Formats: sequence, C-alpha cells, structure tokens
Amino acid sequence: PALAEQFIAEQVAAVRAQVGDKKVLLALSGGVDSSVVAALLIKAVGKQLTCVHVNHGLLRKGEPEQVVEVFRNQMDANLVYVDAVDRFLDKLAGVADPETKRKIIGAEFIRVFEEEARKLEGIEFLAQGTIYPDILESGPVKAHHNVGGLPEDLQFALVEPVKFLFKDEVRVVGKALGLPDSMVFRQPFPGPGLGVRCLGAITRDRLEAVRESDAILREEFAKHGLEGKVWQYFTVVPDFKSTGVRDNARTFDWPVILRAVNTVDAMTATVEDVPFPLLQEITARITSEVKGVNRVLFDLTPKPSGTIEWE
Ligand code: XMP
Repeated sequence: PALAEQFIAEQVAAVRAQVGDKKVLLALSGGVDSSVVAALLIKAVGKQLTCVHVNHGLLRKGEPEQVVEVFRNQMDANLVYVDAVDRFLDKLAGVADPETKRKIIGAEFIRVFEEEARKLEGIEFLAQGTIYPDILESGPVKAHHNVGGLPEDLQFALVEPVKFLFKDEVRVVGKALGLPDSMVFRQPFPGPGLGVRCLGAITRDRLEAVRESDAILREEFAKHGLEGKVWQYFTVVPDFKSTGVRDNARTFDWPVILRAVNTVDAMTATVEDVPFPLLQEITARITSEVKGVNRVLFDLTPKPSGTIEWE
C-alpha cells in the first residue's frame, strides 16, 4: 500500500508534467486497466480528462451503470456515456462467424469512439490502459482494447501511466485510488464481451439470456465464496433449442452452458470442481428466472481440447 501511494504520487506528477493544461481522452470500458487509468488521471488532471464509455450492448449486467455511478457520480469525472447498443446489434444481425463477429465489434468500437473524439474540441492526448504484459506479448487477445485504429488526423500523444505494471500491481493501485473491489478484482472479460458467448448470429432474446444467467452465476459464486477463487466463470447460450416441460406443457427453449475454469496464463486451463449442490441450485435459478431457457449444462472440458470461450 505504501508503494502504491508512492507510485500514484509519482504518476500524478508525471502525468501533470506531460499533459500540462491540455485535454486528455480515454476509452473507459470499465475493465480493470482502463478504470485504474481513469482514476489516476482524474486525480492528476481532473476535468481535463474526458472518459468515453461505449455501451455496445455486450457488457455484463450492471456494468454500464457501475461505470456511470463510480466515475460520474462518485469521482465527478467528465464522462461521455454512449448508448450504442442498437448500432452494434444491427451491425451484428445475422453474422454467425466468430472471427467476423469480433472484427465487426472491434471496428464499430473504433468508429463510435472516433465519432465521439471528433465532437470534442482541443484534445491532444489519448490515455490508454496498456499494461506490461500487453507490451511483452501484444497478441491478438487484447486487440479490441487498443484504440490503435484511429485515422491519421486523430493521432494523439499517448498517456500510459500503468504500462510497466503487472495485473496484480494494477489492482493494488486501483484499490489505493478508491475503486470498488467489484471493479478492481473482477475476472477477465473479453473485449467482444457477451457477443462471443451468444453463439452464432446474436439475437436479443439469447443475448438477454446470456446476460441474466451470467448475473445469476456470478451472484451464486459470490454467495458461496468462489468469487476471486475461480479464475473465470461465465455462461454461454448456443443457437439451438431442445424440448422440455413446464407446468405440464412442452417447451422448446435454449440451454445455458456453465463454464468455470482455472489457469495461470490462459494458454491451458482446468475445470473448477464446482460442488454438485451448487450446480443444482444454479440450475434451478436459471431455469426458473431466465426467459426462454429450459436446460442447464456444465462444461467439463479443460483447455486443451476446448478453448476457454466457446467462440
Ligand atoms: P480462449 O477462449 O482463447 O481464451 O481460451 C483465453 C482468454 O482470452 C479471453 N479472450 C479474449 N479477450 N478479446 C479479449 O480481449 C477476445 O477476442 C478474446 N477471446 C478470448 C478469454 O476470455 C480468456 O480469458
């Protein structure tokens, strides 16, 4: 904590020296890295920072609301909240190929961000939540987060205050900056979000089923002490239905697949040994609370042969 305070003091001074009285822009996803950079910059340059939060409709339940609550209401930041849900879902309509879905989401994100950047006058700096592993292995995994696809006339000088930190160090700094645990200790979440967990061509009904079942899974894991213990856990809704029965009538609805894995580097992963009674409790809640779902399945596959995500 003392080291965190020292790091914050140093970076606040460094950012002030770099930025002077100029304006800074930040794409704030609500993930750990961009949130910590936002908190640090709010401390350093206050309202000279403008945060842009793009809600692409593929975020987890409560996430966009939390970004607004923490940064606008509690930290009094300049926050531009962009409701781009319809835009993204329209672009994705009918697109089933996973890599095409990713490309559309990434490209549309840059387009929305670019439009917002053009509306703002006199921005000279772009802040980014680059962390040390991003520099070490700038692979495809984080491509979506790096707003590197901006056109020539929108190239800003970069402000990257956490670029020499590892993830666990970023979390310590975030906590010292007063960010809530639910933001700082959150599990990894892919840039394309729930879009790769609503398999095949995304539809609004199945997307809501992913979001609602994911919220139930997270709630139950938290209640049973598994939050912060299991590396990544989420739900997936495939694009096929099966027959079921409810109130003496046949149903034809979607299944929900539960996934809970542990890993060190995401290259290989093992499946969490989730207690059977808890799986039964989660199943009961999902089948009774989530619209359009009549079955729950648990994915027993390690990586390899599966990947962590389903797409
Ligand atoms: P896989 O499915 O490849 O996932 O075993 C390994 C880790 O990477 C995350 N992941 C992504 N993260 N953009 C991201 O930012 C993506 O397109 C993406 N695909 C997978 C996944 O959640 C897991 O933690």
